[in-house]
Amino acid sequence: MEQTVKINSKITLKPSRIGKKYYVKTFGCQMNEHDSERISGLFELDGMKKAESEDNADILFVNTCTIRENADDKLYGTLGHLKKWKLESDNRKLLVGGCAAQKDKNLVRDKAPWVDVVIGTHNLTNVINLLNQSEDWGPVTEIIDEIENLPTDAPSIRESEFSAWLTIQIGCNNSCTFCIVPSVRGPEISRRPSDIINEAKQLVSEGVKEITLLGQNVNSYGRDLKIDNKSRPYFAQLLEQLNNIPDLERIRFTSPHPKDFKKETIFAVKELSKVCNQIHVPLQSGSSNILSKMHRGYNKEKFIEKIDMIRSIIPDVSLTTDIIVGFPGETDEDFIDTMDIVNYSEFDSVYMFKFSPRPGTVAFNMNQEFVEKKVIDNRFQLLKDTQTDISERRLKRFVGTEQLLLIEKLSKKNNQIYSGKIDSGQITHIDKGDLNLGDFVNVNIVDSTPFYLKAEQI
Ligand code: 5AD
Ligand code: SF4
Repeated sequence: MEQTVKINSKITLKPSRIGKKYYVKTFGCQMNEHDSERISGLFELDGMKKAESEDNADILFVNTCTIRENADDKLYGTLGHLKKWKLESDNRKLLVGGCAAQKDKNLVRDKAPWVDVVIGTHNLTNVINLLNQSEDWGPVTEIIDEIENLPTDAPSIRESEFSAWLTIQIGCNNSCTFCIVPSVRGPEISRRPSDIINEAKQLVSEGVKEITLLGQNVNSYGRDLKIDNKSRPYFAQLLEQLNNIPDLERIRFTSPHPKDFKKETIFAVKELSKVCNQIHVPLQSGSSNILSKMHRGYNKEKFIEKIDMIRSIIPDVSLTTDIIVGFPGETDEDFIDTMDIVNYSEFDSVYMFKFSPRPGTVAFNMNQEFVEKKVIDNRFQLLKDTQTDISERRLKRFVGTEQLLLIEKLSKKNNQIYSGKIDSGQITHIDKGDLNLGDFVNVNIVDSTPFYLKAEQI
């Protein structure tokens, strides 16, 4: 069957590879995972079918990450292994995209000439055209600086039937001195509210029960938009509109920036029944001195004010955060400030990172002040131990309570156990019994660890 779909005026897809098997290997964050769902969508539109693993794939797309140095190291290691994969058959095609490809431009091709297509983050919807081009003309690299189309223009094949990512904004206008994201993902662009609502309704019609809104700085959503040529849409208003969609059950979002956190957003979390009781507030450091060097736009006191404001409006909210240990110039006193905030805020969980110098960022050039690896390792361990105790205490508060659990997937370690999330986002395990994926079940929380809860069906 000849099937053509117009993604934009320039791209027409033809299923010339019908029956071939593709596999997408993803590194990095939720944005990348979601981009991979779009790439899969485009591949399926082209007539390909998903392979179980790269071993039985004809077409392999590696979606790369560059946020920290070890992500880069992993990429070039992976590309070395994949040379063997590629050489096992003449018909195999290897494609490399994502943030590292965008950042490194020709380096990917120079280091791994056996790659057929190198594509950046700004032109993902062009992937089939480039695949065609590589078949006809040989290896191709296309990295562009301006966003061509949003990946949201492409269809998507989701990992989960019941939970979906929904991009509300791409790029970032901030200039955190450690962060490479603005230079690879470009400036902040908000999608129109009507596009977002339509996509949410479409997802619900396909059986999705939970959406997670994605953006680098979701609470500045709409800054670049005008409705009726005058007012801009606000994130809280978007949440309100999404909350009105019948049959959508849960709304989550990630990530807000502490400096742009508005009271209205917290009230939206409190009052809108479908918006889950969970807020991610990336701290990065508790030291005002380091926060200023990071160019974060808040200091220790301001962050504490935000935490107090959130907790005064929603006392039982689940809070999570990101922290970087060992930013250049971080002294013992600076680290103690971070520990102070960690002890004060009682986060449910903390994503911890050791500072990684990224070429092209301001912090990369602070090499005179780089903190010794041993010192970073010790601080990291101390933070980890402290937070594990806090998480253990925090998660215990659920034991003995009744919760609504969305069953999302089979546990990786035990195929008799399902894993899902309760409203406030904690991972929860339950015996499979006669439950099904996608069920919402009332459960009793019977036990907890610092990392997940255990439940029994009521
Ligand atoms: N080094 C360490 N961690 C980083 N992050 C971003 N850039 C770096 C870096 N250069 C962390 C931040 C951010 C999270 C997604 O990754 O904590 O919030
Ligand atoms: Fe990076 Fe800062 Fe933008 Fe987050 S807000 S993506 S840390 S520059």
